[in-house]
Amino acid sequence: MKIGFIGLGIMGNFMALNLLKNGVALNVYNRTKEKSKEHIKKGATFLDSPKDVAKKSDIIIIMLSDSKAVSNITDGDYGLLEGLDGEKTIINMSTIEPDYSVALFEKIKIKSPASLFLEAPVIGSKIPAKEGTLIILAAGDKKAYDLLIDYFNMMGKRVMYLGGIPKASYLKIINNQIMGITMGALAEGLNLSKKIGLDDNVIYDIVNSGAFANQMFQLKGKNIIENNYETNFPYKHMQKDLDFAVKLSGEFKVFSPLTSAINNSYILGYDEFKDEDMCAIYKSLTFKK
Ligand SMILES: NC(=O)c1ccc[n+]([C@@H]2O[C@H](COP(=O)([O-])OP(=O)(O)OC[C@H]3O[C@@H](n4cnc5c(N)ncnc54)[C@H](OP(=O)(O)O)[C@@H]3O)[C@@H](O)[C@H]2O)c1
Repeated sequence: MKIGFIGLGIMGNFMALNLLKNGVALNVYNRTKEKSKEHIKKGATFLDSPKDVAKKSDIIIIMLSDSKAVSNITDGDYGLLEGLDGEKTIINMSTIEPDYSVALFEKIKIKSPASLFLEAPVIGSKIPAKEGTLIILAAGDKKAYDLLIDYFNMMGKRVMYLGGIPKASYLKIINNQIMGITMGALAEGLNLSKKIGLDDNVIYDIVNSGAFANQMFQLKGKNIIENNYETNFPYKHMQKDLDFAVKLSGEFKVFSPLTSAINNSYILGYDEFKDEDMCAIYKSLTFKK
């Protein structure tokens, strides 16, 4: 079974390396070819287009930033869709709009009716991707899920099948809606405490001792206090996912004022901080004063 992996960014890089570590035969493609050096060294074959990846692989995994990036690799003369023939299995692990996921599924079925499709967005950031401890949420063709389960287990510690598309996209967006609001709460609290002149270490200790203490407060709180904004989960992807949550709330006529407020705060600092970690929302709040 040959796997094609498209997208070697923060997450895709480690996910592909974990497949290689487990002896999987891998074709890779990334817009910026330099990012595939390590994979080639470990036995992967770099192919020059997504079309080639589709032609020469049985299973094709996509891990890109957003739906614009996904259409960039699926469409056009050298796109993935052009290379589909027979029964191929396509898995999109990028976080994209639920509507776009459905549209992608339909495009694939029109071009290649025998092909199977799964959406499989992930929970967990750079370290879980590196350690192979992601949580993988899958929806779509059950046959594809059964085929992929062993490969998912090489990249994640927990895999869930949720039924039809776009249930996994919905769940992923709601997870990040909660995460974004929580991140915003921490950033605002730390900002106010700093302005008042409280000791950073005392507020950190208290927040992490109370009933709502959580891993994100520990990791991101520490990073903010140490002025460390090295990118794990990019600010721009957090804003993208909050935007999806705002749109989803509108579509389902749900009142989500906190989601809109935190999304707007992310938008305010977007140009300045988009490539830093999502915890740079703290700088975005202080920067706007
Ligand atoms: N980082 C996290 O903690 C995390 C956690 C869970 C889920 N996710 C989701 O996983 C996905 C990937 O995240 P990431 O952090 O790995 O992103 P990333 O580091 O920004 O990588 C993005 C990937 O998309 C490619 N890309 C971007 N625009 C493109 C375009 N127009 N045409 C073709 N390729 C394009 C990039 O290619 P180049 O290398 O050429 O730029 C790169 O391979 C996102 O949907 C994100 O929301 C991320």
